[in-house]
Amino acid sequence: MENSISDIGEALQFVRQFDTRKPKLGLILGSGLGAVAELVADAVEISTGSIPGYPESTVAGHSGSLVIGDLAGVLVAIVRGRVHCYEGHSVRAVAFPVRLLHGLGVRRLIVTNAAGGANPDLSPGSIMFIEDHINSVGKNPLVGPNLDHGPRFPDMSEPYDLDWISEAESIAGAEGIRVHRGVYLWTLGPSYETKAEVRAFARLGADAIGMSTVPEVIQAVYLGMKVLGISTITNRAAGLGDDRLSHEDVLEVGRRVGADLKRLVSGIVRRT
Ligand code: HPA
Repeated sequence: MENSISDIGEALQFVRQFDTRKPKLGLILGSGLGAVAELVADAVEISTGSIPGYPESTVAGHSGSLVIGDLAGVLVAIVRGRVHCYEGHSVRAVAFPVRLLHGLGVRRLIVTNAAGGANPDLSPGSIMFIEDHINSVGKNPLVGPNLDHGPRFPDMSEPYDLDWISEAESIAGAEGIRVHRGVYLWTLGPSYETKAEVRAFARLGADAIGMSTVPEVIQAVYLGMKVLGISTITNRAAGLGDDRLSHEDVLEVGRRVGADLKRLVSGIVRRT
């Protein structure tokens, strides 16, 4: 069966052949936001394509990697190159990396993503801590057999740890990095939203819109992890800016914010 508990078992065994350390903190890095992995010392890097049960990346020539090592004095496991439902993966497959991180010992998870700003206060280049999310796709990685024996009906009243956000805000302040807080709304993609959809989502309470993160966060909360979500606003959502949206622009803004984000994330990790 897809992603049965034994898949995780095999994947864990495989990873432990390369590294037996037990990371307590995990990071899943979004598109164009991989730079923080460059700061990892004593790194062991494993291609996700070689890990049994790991969903195959469909981006040509870019199988992702799992990096285990020391970041700012903390042993971390970093997933570079997450997988998305729009690639054709089931929502359960998209949550596989979180189950793997949990099996390795991770109990705190930082997820980053690129998102469009639906709130006019969020201009391209803004950094937003995710306070809450809206699952507009309606798919849930926990549908089906209760594989990891957590609660059948997990509470989602605080998926993103509010104390961790406050702490991260004070770190941002000390670093001189301006940050926002807001609600992230997940869309399936891969097409961007229409202008009417953006208006509708903003009315529903969305500040930022993106194509990832929610499946992984639901899985992490189910497994009892503390989660911090960080969106980089790479563009104004459709209809709120002048330009047509392109993936190249999204990556370009992601890279521009990269230096701040790298500093912010390593500061947050250091204080964990
Ligand atoms: N919409 C959805 N996903 C995105 C966007 C957007 O405007 N920008 C970056 N990821």
